[in-house]
Amino acid sequence: MAKVLILNGSPHANGCTATALDEMIKVFEQEGIETELIQVGNKDIRGCVACGYCSKNGKCVVNDLVNEVAPKFEEADGLVVGSPVYYASPNGTILAFMDRLFYSTSFSKQFKVGAAVVSARRGGNTATFDVLNKYFTISGMPVASSTYWNQVHGFTSGDVQKDLEGLQTMRNLARNMSFMIKAFADAKEKYGLPEVERGAFTSFPDGK
Ligand SMILES: Cc1cc2nc3c(=O)[nH]c(=O)nc-3n(C[C@H](O)[C@H](O)[C@H](O)COP(=O)(O)O)c2cc1C
Repeated sequence: MAKVLILNGSPHANGCTATALDEMIKVFEQEGIETELIQVGNKDIRGCVACGYCSKNGKCVVNDLVNEVAPKFEEADGLVVGSPVYYASPNGTILAFMDRLFYSTSFSKQFKVGAAVVSARRGGNTATFDVLNKYFTISGMPVASSTYWNQVHGFTSGDVQKDLEGLQTMRNLARNMSFMIKAFADAKEKYGLPEVERGAFTSFPDGK
């Protein structure tokens, strides 16, 4: 069964971001896609210290939720990351988590489908959305899209329940993501994954 891993970057397990993610989970259930929701935003997650431990050991030197989630991400067919908007960016906890999750794992993320979801009271949504999508687009992960940028508005879960367009965007996003996961599974059988070249570095004309 296909599986989507869902990260909630909010410290509120039942807040606005959670309400948006729940709307997606209902659709994944209808689509026969398994989900696992991980509450990240209420954990004590430090930032990357660029120590290089992961390049030798295949996991982060800080043995916390990042190392617990890494094998689940390796198995998953899709990743949804949700964040509240803090000063027009993702909140600090989910940023620290995403930096370390993506940097410390060397397994292929190619053709795992990614989706970012953001929740704001007023503004900063699209800047936050851009930041989160960049983890996917550096990793060979196709990004699922919807009928608007993937955002809801509110200060409480009750506000988001009244954001009918936001919730509609979440349902359409989950439907599109489900379709992509199923289609890529078929395409992998038929064509295999595309070749990935590595090793070239920017701005060094002699290649050294
Ligand atoms: C530190 C902090 C910074 C925030 N910055 C913004 C902001 O820049 N723009 C905005 O619209 N809301 C901002 N908010 C409000 C939250 O993004 C908004 O209420 C969000 O929907 C809460 O989601 P949650 O219930 O999932 O935590 C901020 C909240 C906090 C705690």
